Amino acid sequence: MTSSNSSSRSRNPSFGVGSTPDPFAYSATSTYSESSVSRKSGSARNPIKVVVRYIVGAFVACFTPPDSEGYKKFGVSDEFRAPSVAPKMPRTNGERRGSNRAIYSNSTREKVPGSMKFTMEEILKATRNFSPAFRIGQGGFGTVYKGRLDDGTFVAIKRAKKSVCDKHLGVEFQSEITTLAQVEHLHLVKYYGYLEHGDERIVVVEYVPNGTLREHLDGVHGKVLELVARLDIAIDVAHAITYLHMYTDHPIIHRDIKSSNILLTEKLRAKVTDFGFARLAADIDSGATHVSTQVKGTAGYLDPEYLRTYQLTEKSDVYSFGVLLVELVTGRRPIEPKRELRERITTKWAMEMFNDGAAISALDARLKLTMGTNLAIEKILELALQCLAPCRHNRPGMRKCGEILWSIRKDYRELSAMDLRSYSSNFQ
Ligand SMILES: Nc1ncnc2c1ncn2[C@@H]1O[C@H](COP(=O)(O)OP(=O)(O)OP(=O)(O)O)[C@@H](O)[C@H]1O
Ligand SMILES: [Mg+2]
Repeated sequence: MTSSNSSSRSRNPSFGVGSTPDPFAYSATSTYSESSVSRKSGSARNPIKVVVRYIVGAFVACFTPPDSEGYKKFGVSDEFRAPSVAPKMPRTNGERRGSNRAIYSNSTREKVPGSMKFTMEEILKATRNFSPAFRIGQGGFGTVYKGRLDDGTFVAIKRAKKSVCDKHLGVEFQSEITTLAQVEHLHLVKYYGYLEHGDERIVVVEYVPNGTLREHLDGVHGKVLELVARLDIAIDVAHAITYLHMYTDHPIIHRDIKSSNILLTEKLRAKVTDFGFARLAADIDSGATHVSTQVKGTAGYLDPEYLRTYQLTEKSDVYSFGVLLVELVTGRRPIEPKRELRERITTKWAMEMFNDGAAISALDARLKLTMGTNLAIEKILELALQCLAPCRHNRPGMRKCGEILWSIRKDYRELSAMDLRSYSSNFQ
């Protein structure tokens, strides 16, 4: 299914008002939430559907373990982890968020992400007056601090540069707020709230404890990121972006998908962050097929068609996702200025390797070469090639990307298990 299919599907009345289509019917976390069961009580009474759901859910659960330990370790209460009520956002076309909220079921907490109001006092206390010791990063938006709220919750506090009051960044700040407040998904960084105080613009989001994907690919955290972990991450990102693209009446385009905007949990599962550039996609129902906009994003990840035409669609995210897939396979950054000329643009080089039947030469040298790896990287690069198609119409939709990656991971696991069995039988 292409993303245009996905988009039209998200508007398909058959999904019914009152429930945003769950893009991941096979997601264990959403299938078994209390709210999704109560919403679908009719189908839940059908014994065949119940059995099918059970089987699908059990199958999926094997592949997507709920990632809760990371939170516990860092003292984040379950209440924060599992809001059961969506942020109160004015919605034009009825509430359609039920199934998405289901991803965070279990909670009884009244206070919910997006609805929290912070005072400057709380922020200063949480960051010990923006102490450098609590600083965890610096980006285009400003400085990022790790903070601890009174109830023990760890949060990331993004403090906008003073220039945020300039018109340009001011709009970006508003964009981040509006977008963050609307979305909620297991693989998107959770938004807690924000504060405007004089010149200060502060966004408080979920703290994700294990660094960025880029850092892991760079080996900053010591261990090599195994291929299976890379596949899990790619799938998590595909799911998160599919969710954004299928979001209610107005799909959301992330616009800045890149490895430094993918944060990892302790279990190496991904959370996509940075909606500062996010844009509500064109409303296809109104006849528009794209949003015309100033070019934004990061060099190396930018869709060439968007660069040429300034027309933004979901397929621009698909292009960036293709770049991310190549990063995952090669471990390299999209632009590697120190390498010899033909290897400087990583996607170009990797695609040349793939087209020459030498995909394996593009593999991150730190990864073990097995039959499973060989096959998987061939397929991942094949998908990347489709995502990187110069013309957006030839790119798959994000949902399709997730499905393809899902089957690559399944085959990879099966082949790895076979490898392991033959290895151990050789030693018996
Ligand atoms: N929610 C978070 N949890 C934990 N660490 C975070 C969080 N958000 C950001 N960080 C850390 O802060 C750093 C800076 O983040 P920020 O998003 O401001 O900039 P960036 O992603 O590096 O660049 P850009 O401005 O282009 O997005 C990140 O690289 C990451 O290490
Ligand atoms: Mg970022």
